[in-house]
Amino acid sequence: MKNYNKFEEIDYERTNLNLDKRFSILPTVLHLLQPIPGRDIIDVGCGSGFFTLPIAELSPNHVYGIDNCLEQIELAKRRPHPRISYAIGDMFGELPSCDRINASFVLNYAKTTGELRSLVYNFHHSLTRGGKLVAAVDLPKPYHNSKQMEQKKNLGVIKTLKGDLKDETQIILDFYNCSKLMFSLSANYFTPGTIVEILSDVGFTNIEWHQPLIANDSPLELWQNYLELCELGYVTANKK
Ligand SMILES: C[S@@+](CC[C@H](N)C(=O)[O-])C[C@H]1O[C@@H](n2cnc3c(N)ncnc32)[C@H](O)[C@@H]1O
Repeated sequence: MKNYNKFEEIDYERTNLNLDKRFSILPTVLHLLQPIPGRDIIDVGCGSGFFTLPIAELSPNHVYGIDNCLEQIELAKRRPHPRISYAIGDMFGELPSCDRINASFVLNYAKTTGELRSLVYNFHHSLTRGGKLVAAVDLPKPYHNSKQMEQKKNLGVIKTLKGDLKDETQIILDFYNCSKLMFSLSANYFTPGTIVEILSDVGFTNIEWHQPLIANDSPLELWQNYLELCELGYVTANKK
């Protein structure tokens, strides 16, 4: 199994085909980034650019796609856009000044609450006043019955907590395609309360959790129990 950090050999791009990523996660993130300002946006841990390109299509200004994995940046560059700059960079290091940060599926890279604090501090530091952070985070639920497990496989991922529902517990993410296990990743759980506390400690305000949206043109049968099955949280926070 790969750590969330060892991304080179993982076919994570395949998850971009998951129906909930296209019909719920993407529209939710785009909605939460609104109003899209006339200034710069960073997509941190942009991977193959799943969010970066649609953000650039909505935004009149520049979008930075930053990832520390060369292979992911090369994949992203296969779909160039005049307002996107892709670069290899560390989200724990210096980031460009910007008005919006999309941090989707990256907070769970922090191994400890201390690391999460440094990361969130770094995001706060790179945002301009009035700027906004949008983050989609893994929030696995401890119990699912067998029917729900099958439904989750159809959605493409099963997230298993390797311990109690508390900070720093390891999460195993098993990614499926047509009920076949494709690859697994390891990440780290943080409670919604801890995430809010850290956001607030570093200076963010208007911290809010949001329900997922579901696009009108999505295949209907997929969405039975989606809110119950969905193991994601969407949080937004503003810099004063
Ligand atoms: C789970 S993937 C999510 C990719 C993309 N946001 C998406 O949802 O399709 C996380 C990404 O973060 C990148 N990453 C991990 N650690 C990073 C770091 N310290 N700095 C920048 N990117 C990082 C990984 O290479 C990977 O592409």
